[in-house]
Amino acid sequence: MLLTGATSLPGLALLRLLLEAGHGVRCLVRPGSPNAARLEGSAEVVGGDAGRVGDLLRALEGVEAVAHVAGIELAPQVVEAMRRAGVGRLLAVSSTSAHSRYAHRSHPKREGERVVCESGLSWTIVRPTMIYGSELDRNVHRLLRFLDRSPVFPVFGPGTNLWQPVYYEDCARGAFEALVRPEAVGRDYDLPGARPLTYLELVRTAAAALGKRVRVVRVPLEPVRRALALAERLGIPLPVASEQVLRLREDKAYPYEKAKRELGYMPRPFEEGVALEVARLRELGMVGA
Ligand SMILES: NC(=O)c1ccc[n+]([C@@H]2O[C@H](COP(=O)([O-])OP(=O)(O)OC[C@H]3O[C@@H](n4cnc5c(N)ncnc54)[C@H](OP(=O)(O)O)[C@@H]3O)[C@@H](O)[C@H]2O)c1
Repeated sequence: MLLTGATSLPGLALLRLLLEAGHGVRCLVRPGSPNAARLEGSAEVVGGDAGRVGDLLRALEGVEAVAHVAGIELAPQVVEAMRRAGVGRLLAVSSTSAHSRYAHRSHPKREGERVVCESGLSWTIVRPTMIYGSELDRNVHRLLRFLDRSPVFPVFGPGTNLWQPVYYEDCARGAFEALVRPEAVGRDYDLPGARPLTYLELVRTAAAALGKRVRVVRVPLEPVRRALALAERLGIPLPVASEQVLRLREDKAYPYEKAKRELGYMPRPFEEGVALEVARLRELGMVGA
């Protein structure tokens, strides 16, 4: 089995599951990856870039399946290399951003998914929501550290939009089942958390897991969006697009009946996952005791 993206949070958890189940795993890791040390001693590691067909071809020697976690945007190269190497089975990790009505989020994911679906390979696609669960996540651990330090938390807009973050081990379990179950071939699955929460609920649940009470300060979203839209019309370069601000208002809640039925997918509630994350961050001294 070839695994890309093994050094990421979901990749590491998927690697653990594959090794526990007795699969031989080769990880394709970019030369100079700052995260390569995370894999030490666990699996075979080969250097290479998943965006380069030549690197993939070398890594695919003797391999029967690919778990591609490194980004659905690289699907064209992965599919081409697999076809040329005669490797038939592909699990591709996309994202529920593919469902967004905002093109800058959905288009690259949908395009990658299209390449996978039209590949003629035995493919399966999984789409996690926002992944959390350790200091390696890009979102909840930052939120927890902020809440740990500050009694006040700014929320842009009303904070009533829905989120459904998935604990990284649940996401990896879903991806693992999707990879190993033959009936998952030609199927795609959303992998969200157990239930949707409003952003305010998410913040309060995270604060409660730290044993803190938080005072939320609401910051109106519309003036920020209008200012950004005006700057865009004037051609002023900006670090965020007005569409990105709009996406803060988009609900990110997804049913997962199909994954439950076909993969036995049973994600844990956010309360449980965030408590585990707080315990982990405390162990590392990243939040107070
Ligand atoms: N994070 C989320 O909340 C989230 C939500 C939904 C879906 N996902 C999906 O989950 C997957 C992992 O996401 P992440 O956010 O955890 O990613 P990440 O931290 O950015 O990690 C990306 C992983 O892919 C590797 N990678 C990237 N480009 C590569 C290339 N050209 N060649 C070889 N390896 C490459 C990285 O290796 P290095 O060690 O070299 O950086 C890393 O292991 C992605 O497919 C992402 O779309 C993530």
